[in-house]
This record gives sequence, C-alpha cells and structure tokens, in this order.
Amino acid sequence: MKENGIQILNEYMANLKVLNNNLYNMHFNIVGASFFGLHRKLQEYYEKISLFYDSTAERIKMLGGYPITSLKKIEDVSTIKSMKSMDYTGNQVLEVLENDFHFLTDYTKDLIEIFENKKDFYTVSMLNDFLLFLEKELWMIESCLK
Ligand SMILES: [Fe+2]
Repeated sequence: MKENGIQILNEYMANLKVLNNNLYNMHFNIVGASFFGLHRKLQEYYEKISLFYDSTAERIKMLGGYPITSLKKIEDVSTIKSMKSMDYTGNQVLEVLENDFHFLTDYTKDLIEIFENKKDFYTVSMLNDFLLFLEKELWMIESCLK
C-alpha cells in the first residue's frame, strides 16, 4: 500500500462512497419476506457509512489534501464496485453485506496499523470508531446467515 496518508484515505473514502451507494441500491430494490426488516436496516447502514465518509473527507482536509469528489474517479479508485439496479432477495443482500463489511473490517485494520506507524493518532482513533461499528455488525450479519 502507498505511503501517502492523504492518498490512502482517499482510496478508503472512495470505498465508503461506493458502499453507501450500494446500500441505497439494496434499500430501494430489496424484495421478499425480509423486506421490512432489511429495508430499515439498510437505511441505518447508509446513514452510518455516510457519516464515516464525511469524517474521512474532513480528515483529508485537516491533513492538507483534497477529498475526491468526482463520481467517476471515486468509482475508478474504489475496490468495491457499483451494483446493478435490480431486485435483491434478503439472502443476496446479506451475502453482499457479509462480503463488504468483512472487506471493510480488514481494510480498516490495515489502515489503523499504517497510521499507528505514522503516529497519526487522530486518524487511528477515527478508524477505531469505524471498526467498533463494522466488527459488531459483521457478527450480526454472519449470525443471520447461519
Ligand atoms: Fe428510504
């Protein structure tokens, strides 16, 4: 991974933005018996991830950088890619959530290590807050899939 903290945070922020968009997609397009529960849960998630996205962008500003705002650039830089607008069953939604939250949990841990080495403890503390949410939700998502 690249050593430039601003670039690292921009890539992370791009993933949050695409994830946020995918959460909206599934919120709109969920079908089936679990509609009511997951429609509501997905709203909770996109509201939370939106706050993480905002905090990451503001940290980039505090570090003297510019957060990526071009949607095209965000999509290019992000590892998580935009999902097709189509029907998603409850199980498909849970599989996507499991996959993306797992990816983001590992990704966040990697970044915490990088920023600890940089002695950037503000960023470490911010990422730790994200991790508390992600890892707990991941446990619940995985429990739903059992
Ligand atoms: Fe809504």
